[in-house]
Amino acid sequence: MPDSTRFWINGQLRPEREAVIPVTDHGLLYGDGVFEGIRFYHRHPFRLAAHLQRLANSCQAIRLGLPYTQAQLTEAVNEIIAAFPEENGYLRLMVTRGPGPMGLNPAGCTQPNVILIATRLEMVHPELRNEGIRVIVASTRRLPADGLDPRIKSLNYLNHILARMEATQAGVEEAILLNSQGRVAEGSAENIYIVQDGHLATPRLADGALAGITRGVILELAGELGIHTREVPLTPYDLYTADECFLSGTGAELIPVREVDGRALRNRPGPVFSALADAFQEQVEKECKPKESVS
Ligand SMILES: Cc1ncc(COP(=O)(O)O)c(C=O)c1O
Repeated sequence: MPDSTRFWINGQLRPEREAVIPVTDHGLLYGDGVFEGIRFYHRHPFRLAAHLQRLANSCQAIRLGLPYTQAQLTEAVNEIIAAFPEENGYLRLMVTRGPGPMGLNPAGCTQPNVILIATRLEMVHPELRNEGIRVIVASTRRLPADGLDPRIKSLNYLNHILARMEATQAGVEEAILLNSQGRVAEGSAENIYIVQDGHLATPRLADGALAGITRGVILELAGELGIHTREVPLTPYDLYTADECFLSGTGAELIPVREVDGRALRNRPGPVFSALADAFQEQVEKECKPKESVS
């Protein structure tokens, strides 16, 4: 972690060596817990209310009692941002099931751990933001919703990690996961979009896409820009033959894709991507940049 990284655990800012939790935490033993990734710009968290709502929903879905109110979490987020030496950064907010006896039953875990990490995060080299990245369709599939609902942002990312390792093995930057029916779900930590004849399309949540906060912003902005948008099932063929393809996520922000499974796309990046990326940047500034004080 860079020196600038800051840690907050269960109510207090801590130096890294004291930012520790017991090895008996079920978050470690079983991946039993949930998390959010949040960006801040100009020291202001982007879409914090939406992230906290999704966290609360993830907790509710796995019957994990969140020991802080949304107001207290907001205060904690602001505290760690104030302690971070830079204006812009990335926050990881985690809630673990807490320490407990060995065995899957979480009934003995009575003290969830709430952890915040503020750090710098650059998902891709800045040059690739202009040129676009190469992706593969991974053989590792997204877990089906009847196994684990994709709306739960759980601490267990093992199949996404395996997909990502396939990408590295193939010498490309990112992996796209299909669902068990062979429909496109999402990237290892990003939602995916294609553009065909000027129309924007993205997988339905029912096909295994996380309800990304950035995805929500992109759909709002596409509406404002008059870009026709559909949430539809997509196959690898749709990616191969798209005019444009791009990814979105809190960590990733917007990243254009220039190649899918060795097929170079027509536009890399394309006009719809560029319009949305500019609009996204403006939206971030509008929501996060401090207002000029009027004298
Ligand atoms: C699996 C997965 N899909 C999509 C996303 C993008 O979601 P968001 O825009 O809320 O960051 C993430 C982000 O963490 C993710 O982990």
